[in-house]
Amino acid sequence: MAAKVLILNGPNLNMLGKREPGIYGAATLDDIEIAAAARATSHGLEIDFRQSNIEGELVTWIQEAMDDAAGLIINAGALTHTSVALHDAVRASGLPMIEVHISNVYAREEFRHKSYLSPIANGVICGFGVDSYLLAIEAMSRILKSEN
Ligand code: DQA
Repeated sequence: MAAKVLILNGPNLNMLGKREPGIYGAATLDDIEIAAAARATSHGLEIDFRQSNIEGELVTWIQEAMDDAAGLIINAGALTHTSVALHDAVRASGLPMIEVHISNVYAREEFRHKSYLSPIANGVICGFGVDSYLLAIEAMSRILKSEN
């Protein structure tokens, strides 16, 4: 059975395509899911791709992933910069986690330079648009292979 990677998207990422296209590009979240699923399949992985505007829902999904996912890829949106709860949930899960951002958060406002996820991430990929997700899948595939 293919290992499952849970890909989580936080607040406002459901608005991709309409939201500040100069920063986030024209692709919608559905476009990203389709591209991510294809890339995952080429690595023998399966994805479970989700979005929520609600912090607690993301926390619950991370808790549930402990039982059936091999790894996490997370674009927590603005919660990246604020959420101790997401930090704690990922930490408790014990799962490998890659933090993703579409934009280069370090080239933007200073409040985006702080991440509660980076210190517990296996790695961070940001600034490559939709490709950030695809690069994260590549990286997760390598992590999972090195574990087995
Ligand atoms: C983002 C960057 C965050 O600072 C922002 O709040 C987002 C999207 C990105 O993918 O570039 O919602 O995570």
